[in-house]
Amino acid sequence: MPDTVPDIMPDNDHRHEQHGAHENDRADDVGRPYPNPQTDSALFARIDAALIERLDDYGYRHTQGTAAMARTLAEIYGTDPDAAYLAALLHDWDRCVSWPVLIERARARGMDITDEVLASPAILHAHTGADDVARTFPEIPDDVIDAIRRHTVGVADMRDLDKIIYVADMIEPTRTNPAIDNLREMVGTVDLDALFVQAYQRSMMHLVLKQKVMHPETTAVWNALMLRLNPPGRENPNLKA
Ligand SMILES: [Fe+2]
Ligand SMILES: [Fe+2]
Repeated sequence: MPDTVPDIMPDNDHRHEQHGAHENDRADDVGRPYPNPQTDSALFARIDAALIERLDDYGYRHTQGTAAMARTLAEIYGTDPDAAYLAALLHDWDRCVSWPVLIERARARGMDITDEVLASPAILHAHTGADDVARTFPEIPDDVIDAIRRHTVGVADMRDLDKIIYVADMIEPTRTNPAIDNLREMVGTVDLDALFVQAYQRSMMHLVLKQKVMHPETTAVWNALMLRLNPPGRENPNLKA
């Protein structure tokens, strides 16, 4: 979401996830290490050249910042740092594609372009970008593609890698809104679920405070999180009688 709400809501003016493509785990890749800049320098050179061509100056710096932050978060939270770095590097592949083109491409891939989507077409860059990255770099594992796809709205069953990309996108160093600082301070002091809840809550609050449309999948993501953290029948410390 770039650009509609630069700071608090990274690129996800509306983080949107369409279930369907790339839902499978990387069955063919199990046990294979993820590409990294040392062992796969040719791949990373191709990626860097493409990002320079596709992104504006800020988008490129934001991508580099997100990749570094994602690697740090992965090391802290025990997820593969190479997977996190690669997914973050590619997460905004379609960030600079115009909204009419995003809508056209999303329609072509069979997405339902609802009024909620039309209210925030920027959310589509996660889907169209994931599709194009998968076509352009077939060697990239499916879970990395999924993390790209899930960096706007997300899905109810976010993997750790998905959560790391979501949070890194929001707190990487080029994000200068001071409201992000306490989220940064939470890194390493709370578990990844708690960190992701805080980040996702910020995105939702932003929509509410700005009176923007909320995609229905957003409430599905939120309810899944809350049902897991505060299941019915267990006392919720946030509720007072
Ligand atoms: Fe984005
Ligand atoms: Fe981003």
